[in-house]
Formats: sequence, structure tokens, C-alpha cells
Amino acid sequence: MRVFVAGASGAIGSRVVPQLIERGHEVTGTFRSSGNDARLRTVGAEPVALDLLDADAVRMAVLAAEPDAIVHQATALATARFTRNLDRTFEETNRLRTEGTDNLLAVAHETGISRFVAQSFASMRNAREGGPVKTEDDPLDPTPVKGTRETNAAMRHLEEAVTGAGGIALRYGGFYGADNDGLVEPVRKRQFPIVGDGGGYFSFVHLDDAAAATVLALEHEGAAIYNIVDDEPAPVCDWLPVLAKTLGAKPPRHFPVWLARLFAGEGAVMMGTSGRGASNARAKRELGWTPRYPSWRQGFAAVYGKPTASRAMPISTAARG
Ligand SMILES: NC(=O)c1ccc[n+]([C@@H]2O[C@H](COP(=O)([O-])OP(=O)(O)OC[C@H]3O[C@@H](n4cnc5c(N)ncnc54)[C@H](OP(=O)(O)O)[C@@H]3O)[C@@H](O)[C@H]2O)c1
Repeated sequence: MRVFVAGASGAIGSRVVPQLIERGHEVTGTFRSSGNDARLRTVGAEPVALDLLDADAVRMAVLAAEPDAIVHQATALATARFTRNLDRTFEETNRLRTEGTDNLLAVAHETGISRFVAQSFASMRNAREGGPVKTEDDPLDPTPVKGTRETNAAMRHLEEAVTGAGGIALRYGGFYGADNDGLVEPVRKRQFPIVGDGGGYFSFVHLDDAAAATVLALEHEGAAIYNIVDDEPAPVCDWLPVLAKTLGAKPPRHFPVWLARLFAGEGAVMMGTSGRGASNARAKRELGWTPRYPSWRQGFAAVYGKPTASRAMPISTAARG
């Protein structure tokens, strides 16, 4: 297949491209940051500079590439600055998930491409009731907490638009697998506390496992939503001390709920105390996906327990220097 990967130079995109090429697909990959074109060429993709929010440019780029399938991995997560209001933190990513998705779907519709796989997110989106681990069929949170409503709505938009067009939305767990993983610095600096009882569940996935699931989804028929997460959803009070220890950091601080609410906002309190994790049973069953790192326990040790020089460095990390 000829595959158009939007966001090919990012943390997940740069793992997807080599796996697609290994399976015999041809890849056109988009990038934003200078220097990433050469790196995409190195891994065998045809690079194209593209702003996904520019509808005309998206149309021209896809028409020129003449793909059989589209993968949407463009986000602005790596450069996000955390504030008390997560909707502000994720504003650009929310636009990429709404306008960006719509721009890609418009040209997919125009050219008759129905094979479409897009990035969504698994943890902390479900109704905060019942058990701690949720499937794709469990209800999403009908009343997301203050400061997270636009972010939740953007993911919902992406999933409805993509599946409505016959494609697949992948609800990934929190990515890890590279030196610049979002959690590394905050955990090293003890800026990521255990809030209250630390009972909020997270789901994780290693970037290589997430990429493998993406390739399988692309080769799968029919519209669907899949949780692409490891086998062990876990509360913050379990995984955070393990991550801190593996990174050689001091143990995490403990914040009472009122203090976390004051400094980090309602979204952070929800994530730390009442967020739900996700089940990967459907992805395993229907995609035939088996994660190489079934738990963050092995994954964190494999990625962060090694000397820095031997860790994987994704394309965009190197480009950002
Ligand atoms: N630092 C933090 O606070 C934080 C927070 C959450 C997550 N994260 C990390 O972020 C990563 C998320 O993985 P990811 O692959 O989704 O993100 P990523 O590594 O930032 O990759 C995003 C991709 O989208 C592209 N892109 C950005 N803006 C675009 C636009 N307007 N139009 C088209 N393409 C655009 C990027 O291009 P270029 O790379 O070429 O610019 C890149 O290819 C994880 O590693 C996670 O740990 C960090």
C-alpha cells in the first residue's frame, strides 16, 4: 500500500514509518520541524512539509502522494506547556484533532480513501463510576471536569468523524520509550506528585508496541475504536514510585487534594485520584496484537534502566536537538 503518514516525524510517527516499510508499504511522511525531512528520508519515507491546519496544503499534499491509506499522528503534545487549564495546554493538539482530522478526511472522501487510522487517547476519558478499567464500549465521561471539556470534545470529534468515515481510531495509552517522554523530567524533578490516595488509574504503552498496533490497524477492515494499552492499567500510587526509582529520582511527593487543586487544577486532581484505565482485550482479539512489553514494569526498566547512550532516540527528538 501507499501510506500517507501525517506527523511521521513525531514520537509515534517515527516508529510507525520503519514498521510500515518493513512490511512492504511505501510511505509519504509529513513533518513540521526543519531537519526532519532528511531523517524521514533516512528511514525510507518520502518527506513532505505540512501544516495540517492548512486545508489547501493538506489537499495538495495528499493528492500528490496518491495514497491508499492515511495515518494521522499529528499532535502538538511534545511542546505543550502544562497549566492548570488542560484545555489551554492542549489547544493546538485539539485543533489538530478536530480541524486537522477534518482536513484529512475531506481529501480522503474526495479521493475515495477509506483506510484511515488516527491517534486518540485511552486513559481518563471514561465516566468515573464502576470499576477502574474500561473497554471501548463503556461510556465516556458525560461531564468532564473543568478545564478538560474541550480536550475531551476534540477526541470525541476525532473518533466520531474517523469511524463515521469507515476508519479506525486508536486510543493509545501514555507513550513511553524515549529519553524525552513527557513524564521523565517532571518525575525526575519531583514535580509529579501522588495526589490524595493516588487511586487514579493510568494505562501505558511502549512506542514500539503502539506502532505495531497501528500497522495492524491499517491492514484491518472496517470502522472501529481500539484501546492500544498494555496489560496492566495501574493507579498512580503503584506506577509512579516505580518510575521514580527506575529513573534514579527521589520518591514522589504526596499532595493533599486541596493543594493539588490549587496548584495544578481540577484536571490533575481527576487524573491522580479518579481517572480510569483501559482494557486492551479487543485490540488483542481483533487485531491479533500482542504487546512486547505487557506491563510498564518491564517497559520502564527496559527504557530507563539503561545507560542514556543506548536508549532509542526518535527522529523528532534529534531534530529538536
Ligand atoms: N512535554 C510534555 O509536556 C508532553 C506532554 C504530553 C506528551 N508528551 C510526549 O509527546 C509525545 C507524543 O507523541 P506524538 O508522536 O503524538 O507527538 P510528537 O512527538 O510531538 O509528534 C507530533 C507530530 O506532529 C507533527 N506536527 C506538529 N504540529 C503539526 C501541524 N500543525 N501540522 C502537521 N503536523 C504537525 C510534528 O512534526 P515535527 O516533529 O516535524 O515538528 C510531529 O511529526 C510522547 O512522547 C509524550 O511523552 C510530552
